[in-house]
Amino acid sequence: MIKKISPITILSVTIAILVVAVIGLLWFIQSQPDPIRGIPPLTDISPMEPDSSVWGVNFPNQYSTFLLTAENNTRTAFAGSQPFQKLEWDPRLVTLWVNYGFSKDYKEDRGHMHSITDVEETLRTTDTSAGTCYSCKSANNIELWNEMGAAKFASTPFGVLGKQITEPIGCVNCHDSTSMRLVVTNPALENALEEQGKDWRTFSRQEMRSLVCANCHVEYYFAGEGNLLTFPWDNGTKIEEIAAYYQEIEFSDWVHAESGANMIKMQHPDYELFTADSTHYKAGVACADCHMPYTKDGAAKFSNHNMRSPLIEPEATCGTCHTSVTYVTERVAIIQQQVWDTMDATEDALVDAINTIATASEVAGVDPELLAEARNLHRESQLRWDFISAESSMGFHNPSEALRILAVATDLARQAQLKAIEATGQGLDIQVRTP
Ligand code: HEC
Ligand code: HEC
Ligand code: HEC
Ligand code: HEC
Repeated sequence: MIKKISPITILSVTIAILVVAVIGLLWFIQSQPDPIRGIPPLTDISPMEPDSSVWGVNFPNQYSTFLLTAENNTRTAFAGSQPFQKLEWDPRLVTLWVNYGFSKDYKEDRGHMHSITDVEETLRTTDTSAGTCYSCKSANNIELWNEMGAAKFASTPFGVLGKQITEPIGCVNCHDSTSMRLVVTNPALENALEEQGKDWRTFSRQEMRSLVCANCHVEYYFAGEGNLLTFPWDNGTKIEEIAAYYQEIEFSDWVHAESGANMIKMQHPDYELFTADSTHYKAGVACADCHMPYTKDGAAKFSNHNMRSPLIEPEATCGTCHTSVTYVTERVAIIQQQVWDTMDATEDALVDAINTIATASEVAGVDPELLAEARNLHRESQLRWDFISAESSMGFHNPSEALRILAVATDLARQAQLKAIEATGQGLDIQVRTP
């Protein structure tokens, strides 16, 4: 006789089967691969790939806009991409940099795709220059720094290192190839941050949208016999902190042939001036906001990699935040003219200081200590003036700081002139030579 199955047993078995089925289903769902978002990468990019066209296969919009930096040729009132000779624009520069490379050739900068041509063609470099001059010019650097180390890279002569430099600035100077994250690639920046106890890996995304530019758009110097690329940031990145650093390590780039002062040449401190509490920096704006505005390609949005003067297309750059583009571009014109005029007065004061010191140094019985003080004042004035002169925006990146620094520079230059007169012991009667 068949034993009657109790309804309780049937219910239990049914529940057990259902539980197993649900667990099985959940397991099946979980072990499915993640759905692919967007378009999968078309090609694998090796970690140190110097050739931007390889990256361009995966990122055609960024690549094609990056290539446009080769074609820009528009000149703006104070900048732009036309490589005009600044020594003709302002002949006083030759006196200020006499017997230094910059007094031979100093052109307006242009787009990233020209970086190698321009560093090789400038009269400031020769085959025996330091390899360090390639530090901010090429996508090959990442591989070379990794293989030879930063010290060997710097001490290799320009002409020798140049044989391995084939690619201008490229994607690998700013991006990690697997995640496309923004990264610090220049060992000098990595070291400078470390000295300040900072780790860029903890920086926010918005901070990185400025810090990547600091791989190159900063003041630097060549340290020691090996010409190692170094940022003068141990005390901080404000001008007074940089000046104090150079005094502490007793560094100078050259001795001025006319005044005899130990000089510092400043180079494009765009990052330092911008981050010195400028209105935009304090408001959380980054370099990329103005120089790499978002652009639409159908439904997709990407960062325009054609880095150039934002004044060429202000609706796309300033217009993303400001309602009146006319008002803000007029402000730029006013600010730049004010900075230019103020810089003009500083240059006149510097030329007077140089001529007075040169005259004083030939006067019999001149006080050597006072003369040394005058020379140091010349150095301190000119490095401040150059901080604003070499900066790329004619003061726009930080108008109030630019005008403050120029005011101090003019005062120091006039002090240098008075100190030189004092050193002669002849009062204002000395006949200062004219240039
Ligand atoms: C608020 C917008 C803004 C921000 C932020 C900004 N810039 Fe600029 N930048 C400008 C303007 C405006 C100019 C002046 C362009 C001109 O005169 O043609 C300029 C000029 C430049 C130039 C020279 C361009 C040329 O045509 O030669 C460089 C290089 C530059 N900036 C780099 C930077 C870097 C690096 C940062 C961040 C540290 C930065 N900028 C942040 C607006 C900005
Ligand atoms: C000088 C530095 C620099 C170089 C060189 C550079 N990029 Fe970028 N790239 C940036 C910055 C800054 C952003 C914005 C990142 C953000 O907002 O987080 C960006 C964003 C991107 C993004 C993210 C999507 C977008 O458009 O915002 C991609 C993809 C990209 N870049 C690809 C490239 C490729 C490909 C190259 C070479 C052709 C390249 N980049 C060269 C600085 C650079
Ligand atoms: C690997 C070094 C490097 C990095 C990183 C870099 N730049 Fe440059 N940049 C240069 C050099 C070198 C030039 C000048 C090239 C020339 O004149 O041949 C330049 C020129 C420029 C110019 C002038 C272009 C023109 O047409 O006049 C702008 C604007 C600019 N850079 C913005 C930026 C911004 C914004 C960033 C960060 C997102 C950045 N750069 C990151 C090296 C770099
Ligand atoms: C990402 C947003 C953003 C972009 C892009 C931007 N600005 Fe601004 N700008 C600001 C903010 C925020 C302020 C602070 C003023 C405020 O809070 O109203 C400001 C202030 C200013 C001021 C007043 C400065 C002062 O010291 O009071 C001027 C002038 C200006 N911007 C010009 C420009 C120009 C020119 C451009 C394009 C080259 C530009 N801005 C691009 C956000 C931006």
